Amino acid sequence: MIDQIKKHREDFDSRVAQAADAEAVNRLRIEFLGKKGHLAQAMQSLRTVPAAEKPAAGKLVNELKQHVERLLGEKSQTFEVKSGKPRESFDTSLPGRREALGSLHPITQTLEEIEAIFHGLGFCVEEGPEIESDYYNFEALNIPKDHPARDMQDTFYIGEETVLRTHTSPVQIHVMERQEPPLRIIAPGRVYRCDSDVSHTPMFHQIEGLMVDEGVSFSHLKSVMNIFVHQVFGKNTSVRFRPSFFPFTCPSAEVDIQCVMCSGKGCRVCSQTGWLEILGAGMVDPAVFEAVGYDSDKWTGFAFGMGIERIAMLKYGINDIRLFFENDLRFLRQF
Ligand code: FA5
Ligand code: MG
Repeated sequence: MIDQIKKHREDFDSRVAQAADAEAVNRLRIEFLGKKGHLAQAMQSLRTVPAAEKPAAGKLVNELKQHVERLLGEKSQTFEVKSGKPRESFDTSLPGRREALGSLHPITQTLEEIEAIFHGLGFCVEEGPEIESDYYNFEALNIPKDHPARDMQDTFYIGEETVLRTHTSPVQIHVMERQEPPLRIIAPGRVYRCDSDVSHTPMFHQIEGLMVDEGVSFSHLKSVMNIFVHQVFGKNTSVRFRPSFFPFTCPSAEVDIQCVMCSGKGCRVCSQTGWLEILGAGMVDPAVFEAVGYDSDKWTGFAFGMGIERIAMLKYGINDIRLFFENDLRFLRQF
């Protein structure tokens, strides 16, 4: 038995050295390692070997098996390299693959730009909850139950007294409840309305602004709005205040900018008016000061609220607000 195994080994060594192609290697593999190959047969005959010889014979068979596997493996690799199909090789001169770099979402970029402008004017950033009580979203802002002004915003109710906030104005109330004037804050965040078309989505972002001090007047509001618009849209962009109504400000205005598409000549985007609405604003109504316990004889203030998507659409010339939320990389990579 032992002699036979040694013979197999010599036989294999000489033949593997002669094997000239992958085909020959494969034949050897079958002859030695196949189901009915020499090694399988040697394993079989181990059973009949006398007990004294068994350990030595077994060891030889195992060694032969490992030897055959190793040499066949090495041999077949040399053929793969020669035939131009290397299993593991690479072209060191190829350029590396770059990691794809992400970028900030256009809404985030716009938000950060707006925050920086108001930072420069001494405003601090505040936040409030997206799930609000009826009181903060409406009542404290001088919008009583059954008041027709509630129809201005299509509200998602999640309970009798609980809503998804429809605007960032409730943050005004939270801030004034915990801080005494003077104050200058902006409050960015998500808001929700049952609303959907090319310029409305059910979730969008607003930035609220509030300044309260002694002697704050409408002209302060106008100058802050002018500074803001000129920094975002350029020095030559005209700003217009149009009388409007909000229950929590009096007087109230909507702020328009000269249409960024047609420079005020009139086009489809501005419905031929030459102007585009960007935000609502006004002087804080004394009823709101009363709700938070401020002395409305001593303090005055202005507030404003703008849609961030609206600003980003005008800034980047985007004609459908829904693009912001579809996460299409072809759109997002442009920013
Ligand atoms: C308000 O939400 C007031 N809270 C703003 C305000 C604050 C007035 C402080 C006075 C003082 P309005 O409903 O108009 O107002 O919304 C403000 C802005 O949000 C709009 O000018 C528009 O830019 C944006 N907006 C409103 N609805 C949507 C919507 N569904 N999708 C995207 N943007 C919207
Ligand atoms: Mg409006």
